Amino acid sequence: MEANQNEGFERAYQSEDFADYYGSKHESSATLRFRNRREIAMWTKLLSRLPKSSSILDCPAGAGRFWPFLRNMTSTLVAVDSSAEMMGRGQKVQQGFAPDSCEVAMAQDLPFPDNSFDLVFCSRLLHHFPQAKDRQEILSSFSRVSRGYVAFSTWRTGNYKSLRNSFRRENQTRFFASMGDIENDVKAAGLTPIHIQHKQRLVSPIVAVLCRVNDSMASKSRSEPARVS
Ligand SMILES: C[S@@+](CC[C@H](N)C(=O)[O-])C[C@H]1O[C@@H](n2cnc3c(N)ncnc32)[C@H](O)[C@@H]1O
Repeated sequence: MEANQNEGFERAYQSEDFADYYGSKHESSATLRFRNRREIAMWTKLLSRLPKSSSILDCPAGAGRFWPFLRNMTSTLVAVDSSAEMMGRGQKVQQGFAPDSCEVAMAQDLPFPDNSFDLVFCSRLLHHFPQAKDRQEILSSFSRVSRGYVAFSTWRTGNYKSLRNSFRRENQTRFFASMGDIENDVKAAGLTPIHIQHKQRLVSPIVAVLCRVNDSMASKSRSEPARVS
């Protein structure tokens, strides 16, 4: 895969129409509402392991789906997304839960000094990157700006959906990683996995992974992405 093959994925979110669609999608039917509740329950269970955070970075924030949930956990919430349209939709709809600041930026190149946040929260980004070096670059960037924890969701193999997917031939925009791949990505990014929470084991591919940052006190400026051999 070429380095810029993910551009199409990023561009899809850079329209107000798509942002409106995505922003209301998770509440648009009984099934999607149920799945959304389960996803939030997965995060609640996973993050209940942490002490209250004084600062959280939500990246990618999308249309602010998790702002009410994250606002409950912290006094300072900062949002980053590569799409101004997505965050604009969130700011319009999630009034009362809006972050202290919203920055349009890439997860790979976050505009914050090292060790800026207690927790970096990342929902539904990494499973769009089939190449380990791209996932590890993003996780390394999170590791750099966090002084405590990184929590991210991704799609894993070993469930009904990944099995069904293996028989499909159409172009994929979402990718399944084995638990071994997930562990390799985490370790290459200077993180230690603490706990993995499934959304619905054997049925849903979505898992949330909580990691501790290895070297929170050291200077972490990393100009090079993590290497994969
Ligand atoms: C599937 S949505 C998830 C949004 C939100 N986290 C959620 O779970 O509802 C993916 C988001 O990632 C953003 N995005 C895509 N590539 C990105 C990148 N390299 N850096 C930051 N944001 C990115 C898109 O604009 C979009 O808002």
